[in-house]
Amino acid sequence: MLKMKYRDVVSIGDFTVEEIEGIMDHAKKMVPIAKGEKKSKALDGKILSTLFFEPSTRTRLSFESAMLRLGGEFIGFAEPSVTSAKKGETLADTIRMAEAYSDVIVLRHPREGAARLAAKFSSKPVINAGDGAGQHPTQTLLDLFTIKSEKGKIGGMNINLVGDLKYGRTVHSLAHALAMFGAELTFTAPKDLQMPEHVIKRVKELGIKPRMEESLETSIEDADVVYVTRIQKERFADLAEFEKVSGAYRIDMDMLEKARKDMIIMHPLPRVNEIAPEVDNTPHAKYFVQAFNGVPVRMALLSLVLGVKG
Ligand code: CP
Repeated sequence: MLKMKYRDVVSIGDFTVEEIEGIMDHAKKMVPIAKGEKKSKALDGKILSTLFFEPSTRTRLSFESAMLRLGGEFIGFAEPSVTSAKKGETLADTIRMAEAYSDVIVLRHPREGAARLAAKFSSKPVINAGDGAGQHPTQTLLDLFTIKSEKGKIGGMNINLVGDLKYGRTVHSLAHALAMFGAELTFTAPKDLQMPEHVIKRVKELGIKPRMEESLETSIEDADVVYVTRIQKERFADLAEFEKVSGAYRIDMDMLEKARKDMIIMHPLPRVNEIAPEVDNTPHAKYFVQAFNGVPVRMALLSLVLGVKG
């Protein structure tokens, strides 16, 4: 029995495999509503607060779309400079206001731990939409949903996380969740941008020994899923070093020659130049489907934490 009513969604580690399976089953039923093929008024009268202290396209818009598709409404802001945070209001007080004005709160904040703190100050459910370099649990849920929809299963798949694994919060929570499901993991990154030790330790505790690679040319060959992330230019003191590294992790038509025919490419987006545009038209490209999947997954989460059957 899935017990989600009034629950916060702060870290993927707060959920069991069974609970994640339950959320994905619920999300599957939401797909026709997310596509506008079926109508729902399940969240009629409910209000969502979207509090975004950092930029976002997909997370904010898909949460707002999810609420509207279920007949609910939303209030919120896309950047803090238009709020009283600019006058020095604390996060705790901003959360108290959102709690008073709405039924569920979605928060993106640059500080790691902000969502956990917000949950302490709110009796209404708080959903973490990314806290600094910490977690992005709803992205992880839609990533898992995409892998399961496209490949039929998660356990046993060889999933290759590629790019900036050090600073990318999506891959930290995803690696953890994939290990929970028993996926085989490959981490492909430049030495200086490899997966943090605390994530490697966690996946090992879950019984998965990740394969560490520097060369995508080698590691792409036996991957079922290649999950690409942006190499963050701003982290490099020497631009020439960035150009060398970013070129080596770019997926183009030549790189695809080395991959399995049924390998799928995912990316949390935004992308810059790590996937060539001509790859978009190949059957490997699943990153736009993945971004769409944010809507049914977030519809499932909103209805579950509000205790409403969608
Ligand atoms: N994947 C993701 O979190 O995208 P946004 O930053 O656009 O929300």
